[in-house]
Amino acid sequence: MSNDAETGLQQEHRRFIEDLGSFVRSHNCGELNAAHIGREVALAGWVQFRRDHGGLVFVDLRDRAGLTQVVFAPEVSAAAHEKAGILRAEYVIAVTGRVRARPEGMANPNMPTGDVEVVVGDWKLLNTSKTPPFPVEDRADPGENLRLQYRYLDLRRPRMAANLALRHNVAQSIRRYLDGAGFLEIETPFLTRSTPEGARDFLVPSRLNKGAFYALPQSPQLFKQLLMVGGLDRYFQIVRCFRDEDLRADRQPEFTQVDIEMSFVNEEQVMALAEGMVAAVLRDVKGVDLPLPLSRLTYAQALTDYGTDKPDTRFDLKLKDVTDIVRNSGFRLFAAAPLVKALRVPGGESLSRKEIDEFTEFVKIYGAQGLAWIKLRPAAANDAGEWQSPVAKFLSAEEKEGLRERLDLRSGDLVFFQAGAPDMVNAALGNLRVRLGRKLGLIDDAALNLLWVTDFPLFEYSPEEKRFVACHHPFTAPKSSDVAAILADPTAARARAYDMVLNGTELGGGSIRNCSAAVQRDMFTALGFTGEDAEERFGFLMQALETGAPPHGGIAFGLDRLVMLLAGADSIRDVIAFPKTQKASCLLTGAPAGADAAQLRELGLKVREAKESSAG
Ligand code: AMO
Ligand code: AMP
Repeated sequence: MSNDAETGLQQEHRRFIEDLGSFVRSHNCGELNAAHIGREVALAGWVQFRRDHGGLVFVDLRDRAGLTQVVFAPEVSAAAHEKAGILRAEYVIAVTGRVRARPEGMANPNMPTGDVEVVVGDWKLLNTSKTPPFPVEDRADPGENLRLQYRYLDLRRPRMAANLALRHNVAQSIRRYLDGAGFLEIETPFLTRSTPEGARDFLVPSRLNKGAFYALPQSPQLFKQLLMVGGLDRYFQIVRCFRDEDLRADRQPEFTQVDIEMSFVNEEQVMALAEGMVAAVLRDVKGVDLPLPLSRLTYAQALTDYGTDKPDTRFDLKLKDVTDIVRNSGFRLFAAAPLVKALRVPGGESLSRKEIDEFTEFVKIYGAQGLAWIKLRPAAANDAGEWQSPVAKFLSAEEKEGLRERLDLRSGDLVFFQAGAPDMVNAALGNLRVRLGRKLGLIDDAALNLLWVTDFPLFEYSPEEKRFVACHHPFTAPKSSDVAAILADPTAARARAYDMVLNGTELGGGSIRNCSAAVQRDMFTALGFTGEDAEERFGFLMQALETGAPPHGGIAFGLDRLVMLLAGADSIRDVIAFPKTQKASCLLTGAPAGADAAQLRELGLKVREAKESSAG
């Protein structure tokens, strides 16, 4: 990382290194202000920057709390000043000196410590540093790979320190709230059996039981239910979960949940507790008063209006079903489609052809073949505007009138249409909606829009697996009126499940569980497990349910996501100290890495094909 000359210099500087001796810090680098003027202080930290100016040496000294300007002045200490010439970026020093006001006109109002500086009486070099691969400051953008490779340097940047401090504050607020509400913090095993949450398991081979594997928990779901059967009544845990799935900005292979379970409760009580917790966090870390209760949207309504079960409600644009209007259209594509939806963009007429082409490319990610649109040009003779569109010529006057009414069309509007299978149509237009919201500046970045989505279906059909899968997880209870539907009509069964959504991100989800063994057995049957399979994988749960399981339910929040949204970060990687890349590797340690032959032998494992693997 550094050339020989630098290493030589550094070697030379090493002879100045002293140990701390009796040095004791009096303050951190973020807290001195005008009230401290005249005080003797002792600071320690990293050299952010050295400037030599008018016979003085200035250093911005940095620690977790901030920056303080430190001055080496020959008239105060000639020795301290002379030695300061060796200081380089990221050298570690301890200084003692007196706080003084910065000279007239030199105050920096952008820094909390900007009114003062510390004139050094004495200082020690505690360590040197090679030239860092990127400047340790918020302004620098070295690229994420370099940041992850040298994460310890990245963490010295004020923004990262602030993110981790925020994460700490959120966790403390949660603990205070749940402790106050009578919850016990209880740990559950990491070396365990599979807990199905819809992802692949990470497996850990057992040395003592060759050929057998532990699965790392996708969540503590089964253990928290067993804790309720065990009579613990109210449990929580801030816990790591492990899921081997395709990663994105808001997904990591190991992430942290705030996991909660309660006995003798219904949905209303769990939701009240959970929204109370989020309100407490917002009050504690943001000083924001969240009006409760949160608004609610059913799953069906969310899909209808927003095309997704995690709607971003910070802006209004809603999707509209127009299938009935174009059912007999001359436009075959519309007439033949099971679902046709429209998205009206007021004022969107000003979007260019090129921009519309970009949106067309964008919706292809979600399986769309194309993207039909119409623009309503302002036209003097007709205040509803003139239709301009590649598809307008296929639409009859009656269809146009129907659309005008349903969509409340005005001149200057742009309307996008998507026709096809419901999942595709909703995904394409739902995601286009969010993209338009960003592009057109409709989203208030400071807003925190929280809501519940309720009335989820119990199952969804998986075309890949050709069977029903649980919409949440297999332990979710059906609405009491839908118990018979589990086997008779799975698609009609609704779940006692709820998700909390923040600004278009699923923040948490939970449900009331099956405390009846019989209902749980039906669930396994509907999911395609044979009695034997279910017994082999979940026999311990079934036995527990048969020995006096209390009614219970709970929820889990994604802590990383919550902190990301509160920090205004774009990725959960920015609020995790040591995250992994999109390819699930750790650029700092080089994990995952090969195992040596002896280790494999002990575990009874043989690697069939060592595919070329590279980090990144
Ligand atoms: P669920 O699977 O919905 O529910 O997970 C709960 C919350 O965890 C967060 N989350 C993730 N965060 C980062 N990376 C991931 N890979 C990831 N996966 C999930 C989300 C999500 O809302 N046992 C149930 C909860 C319950 O029923 O009580 C569960 O795990 O914010
Ligand atoms: P075509 O007749 O294939 O040229 O399509 C006419 C218009 O319909 C074009 O603007 C396409 O982008 C658009 N289009 C194609 N497939 C769909 C679809 N599934 N939903 C909505 N519009 C589509």
